[in-house]
Amino acid sequence: MCGIVGYIGERSARDVVIEGLRRLEYRGYDSAGIALVHAGDDGRGAVAARKRAGKLANLEKAISAEELPVSGTGIGHTRWATHGAPNDRNAHPHLGATGRVAVVHNGIIENFAELRAELEDEDHVLLSETDTEVAAHLLEREVVAGADLTTAMQRVCRRLEGAFTLVAVDGQDADRVVAARRNSPLVVGLGERENFLGSDVAAFIEFTRDALELGQDQVVTLTRDGVEVTGFDGTPAQATRYSVDWDLSAAEKDGHDWFMRKEIFEQPRAVADSLLGRWGADGRLQLDEMRLSDDELREIRKIIVIACGTSFYAGMVAKYTIEHWCRIPVEVQLASEFRYRDPILDNDTLVVAISQSGETADTLQAIRHARTQRSKVLAICNTNGSTIPRESDAVIYTHAGPEIGVASTKGFLTQLVACYLLGLYLAQVRGTRYGDEITQIVGQLEEMPAHIQTVLDRAEDVYAMARDHVAAESVLFLGRHAGYPVALEGALKLKELAYIHAEGFAAGELKHGPIALVEDGLPVLCLVPPQGRDQLHDKMLSGIQEVRARGARTICLAEETDTRITPYADALIRLPRVPTLLQPLVAVVPLQLFACELATAKGHDVDQPRNLAKSVTVE
Ligand code: M6R
Repeated sequence: MCGIVGYIGERSARDVVIEGLRRLEYRGYDSAGIALVHAGDDGRGAVAARKRAGKLANLEKAISAEELPVSGTGIGHTRWATHGAPNDRNAHPHLGATGRVAVVHNGIIENFAELRAELEDEDHVLLSETDTEVAAHLLEREVVAGADLTTAMQRVCRRLEGAFTLVAVDGQDADRVVAARRNSPLVVGLGERENFLGSDVAAFIEFTRDALELGQDQVVTLTRDGVEVTGFDGTPAQATRYSVDWDLSAAEKDGHDWFMRKEIFEQPRAVADSLLGRWGADGRLQLDEMRLSDDELREIRKIIVIACGTSFYAGMVAKYTIEHWCRIPVEVQLASEFRYRDPILDNDTLVVAISQSGETADTLQAIRHARTQRSKVLAICNTNGSTIPRESDAVIYTHAGPEIGVASTKGFLTQLVACYLLGLYLAQVRGTRYGDEITQIVGQLEEMPAHIQTVLDRAEDVYAMARDHVAAESVLFLGRHAGYPVALEGALKLKELAYIHAEGFAAGELKHGPIALVEDGLPVLCLVPPQGRDQLHDKMLSGIQEVRARGARTICLAEETDTRITPYADALIRLPRVPTLLQPLVAVVPLQLFACELATAKGHDVDQPRNLAKSVTVE
């Protein structure tokens, strides 16, 4: 939710900032802007700022026609609008009253109305509807009164409420870029006589893989030769240094039309990487980042999974697996609802927070609430050093690599893997499954990358089906048991990419109301459970029959060994035969391909769907 870039060094700040924004554009694309510090006409230094509504390309077009001043100090922003419409005026950077200080911001300053009133009482004229402009005026008021930008940032941040990352430059001080963060992401990239800031490391991965993770309520000052971190009160603070474990190639499309399509095809590798190194020489599962002791894990009486969107659906699969393997009750809660319903938590409850980005504000606030209630929190996360794992007691990192397409794909599959591993680990520690059973399931998991590849090898068939549905106005998805979350995920993918009305239902629930939606020709994607393992298969066939009787056109996803499905399917997508609980890992893949291709056929921007942003850092 908004991408922020900062740079100071010997290179062209304009080029570094624009390139960084290109890599962060998935975080928001309502508008983009840049500010550079340069010598100024009178030699005292000044800020040159440009901004444009719409995608980064609009800004690039605008600045290609003019000579921006040469500068090694700059900041940039790509916006997902919160306060104020996505127009030129509300685009970032925002400037102080005299244009000396420029600021970019991610988050929401909750007390901005009160601060704005204070500034207006002092005859400040604010030009936008944003909360950000208030910060620009406050910072500039401090520097005009004699403070350096670092001190100004510390003073201003002490007055701000809410969540924010701020990055600022002072036109009269080309030797520093200053930033601050509270509940909103920001990382520092460390170079040779140059330093970088980014909402995430993609902003500077082309130049350095050395990074600093900042803590809450910290101010960071970048010069060419160093980085200084303090608290909002000015006391020196430590930041943790780490090395980014992926490189630029991971942030390129690699010949695909969309990042999303590339990420779908990376799933066999992502799943394999997420399983790597989990099996110890002693023949037992090991989760290295699990910082909870076996005794603590044995004391758990209840698990609550909290997450949003696709991650929530991964949590639903976790419920089926953990309850089955470990016999611990599992609740799955939407993070945005969690703390407002006064949940019953105690130190026997393990809260599992699932988040690809590790920055989702709803999930972050939910885990903070859980910790105040003395519950232990375990994060399942794909982003090293992000806030959610940092504030959790334990973490299982997924190893999907950077996910840039706004629609989550490999993030989801690797979350499923982490949930399976967690379930098996708990079963091992608590003795609810025999060692040989665990060994067998781990072996089955290790076969999943090959099964996923089989599904991908048949992508053309799914694409053809998707193109047949460009005119569809509504699509339903039906699933049962572990197929139910997959149905919900399939519907979410189609909504967010193709902008088609799509709903996922538990197939057994259909007859209790939603079947009224079924009319002649309605496409219904049906996730058929494995045949012959339990009654689910028969029940699903009955559900399919019911919608067919009312005119639905069924596209069935069923195992290749399924001998009964053909008469129930107007179209058939075959899935490899895998264990029931692992079926989501293969069943969701055709749904991702379907949504991606349908959206492409409709001419949509698959990587940057309308109204969305990759990581939602406001509540
Ligand atoms: O980064 P997170 O996993 O916490 O994000 C949660 C949701 O915002 C995310 O899964 C969202 O639903 C995706 N756009 C789905 O494709």
